Amino acid sequence: MSIKILGIETSCDETAAGVVEDGRKLLSNVISSQTALHSPHGGVVPEVASRQHIKDLVPVLNQATFDAGVGLHEIDALAVTYGPGLAGSLLTGVNAAKGIAYSLGIPLIGVNHLEGHIYASWLAKSDLEEDPGFPLACLVASGGHTDLLLMEGHGNYKLVGRTRDDAAGEAFDKAARILGLGFPGGPEIQRVSEGSNGEERLPRAWMKDTLDFSFSGIKTALLHMAQDRGIYPTPNDGIDQQTIVRELAAAFQESIVDVVSAKLVTMSDKYKVKGLVLGGGVTANARLRQEIVARSPLPVIIPPPILCTDNGAMIAACGYFQYRGGKETPMDIDVDPGLPLG
Ligand code: KG4
Ligand code: ZN
Repeated sequence: MSIKILGIETSCDETAAGVVEDGRKLLSNVISSQTALHSPHGGVVPEVASRQHIKDLVPVLNQATFDAGVGLHEIDALAVTYGPGLAGSLLTGVNAAKGIAYSLGIPLIGVNHLEGHIYASWLAKSDLEEDPGFPLACLVASGGHTDLLLMEGHGNYKLVGRTRDDAAGEAFDKAARILGLGFPGGPEIQRVSEGSNGEERLPRAWMKDTLDFSFSGIKTALLHMAQDRGIYPTPNDGIDQQTIVRELAAAFQESIVDVVSAKLVTMSDKYKVKGLVLGGGVTANARLRQEIVARSPLPVIIPPPILCTDNGAMIAACGYFQYRGGKETPMDIDVDPGLPLG
């Protein structure tokens, strides 16, 4: 008999729910983004985010079950993100999930958001445990994390590299602000970089002999270059602002892509993995995806961009493997804004 899991994700500024069958088959994936609400502030405003989740969650849940063609009574377990993320935002999802699980008498499964990003790959390619098989080298690059994780089995992780300052997504967001682009910055930088002729180059933060990252220095280098080229803090008269922004955005993107792909490939070599798994908003980046595939001799599993950014289906997929392993979360679980993985 197939197992259907409803996944709820409210860790940041996306209210999302999805239904997944047997951890691999996507039945629905509904995402209500709060981007328009937060972009005038240049970043996510936590209280605004939680209050919007409260408004959107029930309609999103209704749509997710409707799209999946299932009634709530056909759901076998409720999976929900309980960390890491914004405390107030996490609380909205966890409380809703408790209420539904309690009233239906089905198990509640608390999911680590970062682990959810990894399991988005099970929706992209169904049987990673067989093909390519464990161990896997996982890159989770998002607004809050840039982690390299060795995955040796379901639920078995070792953190082997991480950022020591800004996360890659955070760096993209800050860089976009310097360049006068919108929020979130990653998609904006990717968009304006198209057609660049590679005129500009920013340094790489290699941080020798470690798989750790550092991105705050590149951001400062970008700031100095933007001042030097006359576009920051306000554009000088008579400059070709559009071209300068395009070239600086592309230089910034290349600097991050180069370091992240090099370290992921080094890690996969060092730990003799069988394949690479990408997850998190930054892995929606077209140049990063292209570069990792080009540099790695191993299979690279990359979810479609819509499953790289925050969504409920990845939480449901991850929840399935915990459910299958007999794991159930107690009903008195609290949120954990700083929850680590590995
Ligand atoms: O995983 P995610 O949706 O939320 C968090 O868990 O943080 O990641 C959001 C981050 C943002 O910083 C955003 O700028 C970045 O992912 N991002 C991208 C792209 N799409 C989203 N960064 C680079 N290129 C993209 N295409
Ligand atoms: Zn995320």
